Amino acid sequence: MSLTCALRYWLFILHLLTPIVIFQEWTGEFWETATLSSLGLVYQLGHGGGRCLFPDSKIREMVVLDYPYVHCVKYQFCHCKKSDTTPPLQQLLRNRWYPATTVDPATCATFATLETFWLENVVGNMNVSDFVTTMERRTNATGSTGLNRHRFKEFMRMSRQWAYLHRMKRVGRGHDKAGLAATGLGQGAVICWACPYDGRNLPAGWRDVEAKYRFLYMLIVALDANFKLKNRIRTNAMYDPPLGAGCKYFVEPKEYKKHLKNYVPEKDIGFFRL
Ligand SMILES: *[C@@H]1O[C@H](CO)[C@@H](O)[C@H](O)[C@H]1NC(C)=O
Ligand SMILES: *[C@@H]1O[C@H](CO)[C@@H](O)[C@H](O)[C@H]1NC(C)=O
Repeated sequence: MSLTCALRYWLFILHLLTPIVIFQEWTGEFWETATLSSLGLVYQLGHGGGRCLFPDSKIREMVVLDYPYVHCVKYQFCHCKKSDTTPPLQQLLRNRWYPATTVDPATCATFATLETFWLENVVGNMNVSDFVTTMERRTNATGSTGLNRHRFKEFMRMSRQWAYLHRMKRVGRGHDKAGLAATGLGQGAVICWACPYDGRNLPAGWRDVEAKYRFLYMLIVALDANFKLKNRIRTNAMYDPPLGAGCKYFVEPKEYKKHLKNYVPEKDIGFFRL
């Protein structure tokens, strides 16, 4: 076995569990960047890269965004007893690859990448376009990843769903057998800790205090401008549908529009007329 062959063999064994690595291969004259996929590795899902007795016969290709690189990986689904009944999407998720689409996905991001983006977005105010471009340039400084297109749209969708799923998990919707669809209106909202709520942070007998202290428990409704609301402006809900409409702070749009129809002929009361 030549040295290169031995090296390749060991790389294969070492990286069975991590199909997404980029390394340098000695061509005899210079080091060249190579991937395990370019050496012929086909990653086996359902066994963490290990051997499957009855793998799916089709070898597929997937673009995996794994921070800081973008990889093109060949993989096979598992069809043996271990995951016979496991649908393809679940096999991907169990491998910690989040698919961009539900039907025949061709792009995935690893959970760690979505987690990294989430923090970069919250702490560093980085947007999806900057994040994906950074990864593409890190993969190949010329900006050419060898892929047919920029994976901006896919990552946008994945990161948005990821953040949504996390929010719903945090409000206790993670283990409901009926799934997220069973979330009630407003159930995903976080109750304000500072606001007074009967039975939680108000003293017993607050309703019967002396008249001079009643102002403490008075309901004050104020109107203020929220400039972040401009983020809600979008061309159309068909291209940018809401996730979990009505389950948080905004009303459910379909019912709201139906309700509004009852008041179309009414004249605007003109809030700001002086
Ligand atoms: C992302 O942020 C950069 C600035 O860091 C800005 O130039 C660019 O327009 C933003 N892209 C989108 C799609 O918002
Ligand atoms: C980067 O992309 C260019 C243009 O497609 C290609 O010629 C070059 O080999 C790539 N470099 C690496 C390190 O993959």
